[in-house]
Amino acid sequence: MILDVRDLRVSFTREKLPPVEVVHGVSFSLERGKTLGIVGESGSGKSVISLTTIGLLPGTARASGQVLFDGRDILTLPERELCKLRGNRIGMIFQEPMTALNPAMRVGAQIAEGLVLNNGMSKRAARAEALRLLDMVQIPRAAERIDSFPHEMSGGQRQRVGIAIALALKPDLLIADEPTTALDVTVQAEILDILDDLVSDLGISLILISHDLGVIARIADRTLVMYRGDEMEQGPTEDILRRPGHAYTRKLLDAMPGRVRASMKENG
Ligand SMILES: Nc1ncnc2c1ncn2[C@@H]1O[C@H](COP(=O)(O)OP(=O)(O)OP(=O)(O)O)[C@@H](O)[C@H]1O
Ligand SMILES: [Mg+2]
Repeated sequence: MILDVRDLRVSFTREKLPPVEVVHGVSFSLERGKTLGIVGESGSGKSVISLTTIGLLPGTARASGQVLFDGRDILTLPERELCKLRGNRIGMIFQEPMTALNPAMRVGAQIAEGLVLNNGMSKRAARAEALRLLDMVQIPRAAERIDSFPHEMSGGQRQRVGIAIALALKPDLLIADEPTTALDVTVQAEILDILDDLVSDLGISLILISHDLGVIARIADRTLVMYRGDEMEQGPTEDILRRPGHAYTRKLLDAMPGRVRASMKENG
């Protein structure tokens, strides 16, 4: 088990008001090399859970329970230890890659930077590795694009660069919070396929967060359905799709385009 979350509660302190709890005792676990999908509408607590998992909750947040990453509780680790885990063993892919990328730095240099700083690679070796990673996330003509600035790339290409940066340090766990929401459907599908391949080829464990059950259904082995900070249900993704145990999950299913649902029935 790479990640084991037990009875996680998160609340935010407020000035002159009692704290407000936004995650009400959620438990889930993730096996090595598997993908867990977390789905739920806006405000259901998905991002709060993902920030908790990499120890990046803001100072106003209070968390209780246990978040065991490889047996060590993220909630009680000192910041120094968390820093070592982040990037190195736990990687994050953000919804809007532009916010995660440095607009003034060529993309190849941004990928290479972490390799030089964290792994002590030479600049030359890091550049070669950056090129390999750009190839791996299927940036066409990677040898030319390696010296592009983020604004010279499309949204889908930027997201691929974001994935390459997260992958550079070979994390054991990758958290992707709405990685495809800003992209059109065909690019969305390509990015999801890349993530899916990485999980199988590199043995990475993936948490994929989305408000869209169609995105989750495409690659997640297991799915956790969240609603207003509560777990509605969780289990193998196929079971959730075929026999949603909860009215809210049925609503999410109904919100998927009919053709997607029909093709899922054919395949299943
Ligand atoms: N820094 C914060 N301070 C106070 N409340 C917060 C903070 N961050 C999140 N919340 C609250 O926690 C709840 C869960 O938010 P969260 O961002 O996890 O939702 P989400 O499921 O990721 O939604 P979305 O799909 O819109 O990204 C919301 O009610 C939100 O208002
Ligand atoms: Mg969110």
